[in-house]
Amino acid sequence: MRTPIGPRGHDLDPSTIAVTSGRPRRTPGAPVNPPVVLSSTYVSAGVPPVGDLVYARAGTETWVPFERALADLEGAATPALVFASGMAAIAAAMSLVPHGGRLVVPRHAYQVTLAFADDLAARADVEVVRVDIADTAAVAAAVRGPRPASLLWVESPTNPMLEVADTPALVQAAHAAGVLVAVDNTFATPLVARPLAWGADVVVHSVTKYLAGHSDVVLGAVVVDDADLRARFLAYRTLHGSIAGPWEVWLALRGMRTLALRVARSQDTAADLARRLAAHPRVAEVRHPSLPSDPGHERAARLMSGFGSIIGLRPVGGVPAADAVVDALRLWVPATSLGGVESSIERRRRFATEAPTVPEDLLRLSVGIEHVEDLWADLCQALG
Ligand SMILES: Cc1ncc(COP(=O)(O)O)c(C=O)c1O
Repeated sequence: MRTPIGPRGHDLDPSTIAVTSGRPRRTPGAPVNPPVVLSSTYVSAGVPPVGDLVYARAGTETWVPFERALADLEGAATPALVFASGMAAIAAAMSLVPHGGRLVVPRHAYQVTLAFADDLAARADVEVVRVDIADTAAVAAAVRGPRPASLLWVESPTNPMLEVADTPALVQAAHAAGVLVAVDNTFATPLVARPLAWGADVVVHSVTKYLAGHSDVVLGAVVVDDADLRARFLAYRTLHGSIAGPWEVWLALRGMRTLALRVARSQDTAADLARRLAAHPRVAEVRHPSLPSDPGHERAARLMSGFGSIIGLRPVGGVPAADAVVDALRLWVPATSLGGVESSIERRRRFATEAPTVPEDLLRLSVGIEHVEDLWADLCQALG
């Protein structure tokens, strides 16, 4: 892992990197924050040297500090690549699967990622194999398959079932079979898991979520170590034009400055709420990797430096009770998406496209940074 070296010669903590990386050079009169540059084109002088700014679809200086900071957080050897959305980043990563290739995906993952895989099956003759990503032996067998897969897609913890993958073991198994590995690190954030350090080839983010953190931008990113792979994704982004606007990227970097505080606070609150919910008489099931009874607990404790801020909750009384809880809440926002400073809640199967193995009455709670007692009081009155 290539963590930037701090002033005393030791590796910087990720919470420090989130604050310090991607700042302008420290010269007298320089701004503390990078500027937003609103220009679609650049003054030219003959044949542009490679790397020069020419046209803003190919590159703009407003992306650079964000891409540097995210790469530093993920411990990547090359700058990240910002994309128009998490899905744009996922589409770029999925482009590694050739026509007629094999793609192994978790049976539970962000539903549009799975829809994208199905689209590849329909339009590019890709064989899509769905696996329980927590079942390491089953995933290893699937990547080897009757013929090796082109790509293993990992999400951990999964959306919305919170299964935890043994990502280092999966990378080892995939690489032994010559299979590339992409990890959607949106739920964990680089503060909780750094898949590149485990050997993953590609990391993708919905920056929309924790990285930006304020539910005010839609943005994505791809992070890789390998310079050739980065060049391939840069070419993809330029060809497809799936680029981010300067304001969104600036806002995302601004949000990322407080990532460590937000993640620490919301994780602590989520663990506290999960423990309380597990003892509540109106609760049938709670999922959070912090709970010793959770199937992902041991693995999360071993591999991750936190348990995340998403809780799965099934109230007693099935779908009517779950919908009634959402309706009755006053503080928790009924909304899709997650990872904002505000706590939000959603019954995922209200989407007909959600995986049928996700329980109908499962509520996905995204814990924000409000006071735990206020969130708990609201949950108690709604459950009651
Ligand atoms: C785990 C995960 N990955 C990717 C995405 C897609 O990101 P975006 O909405 O920024 O396109 C989401 C969105 O909810 C997500 O939850």
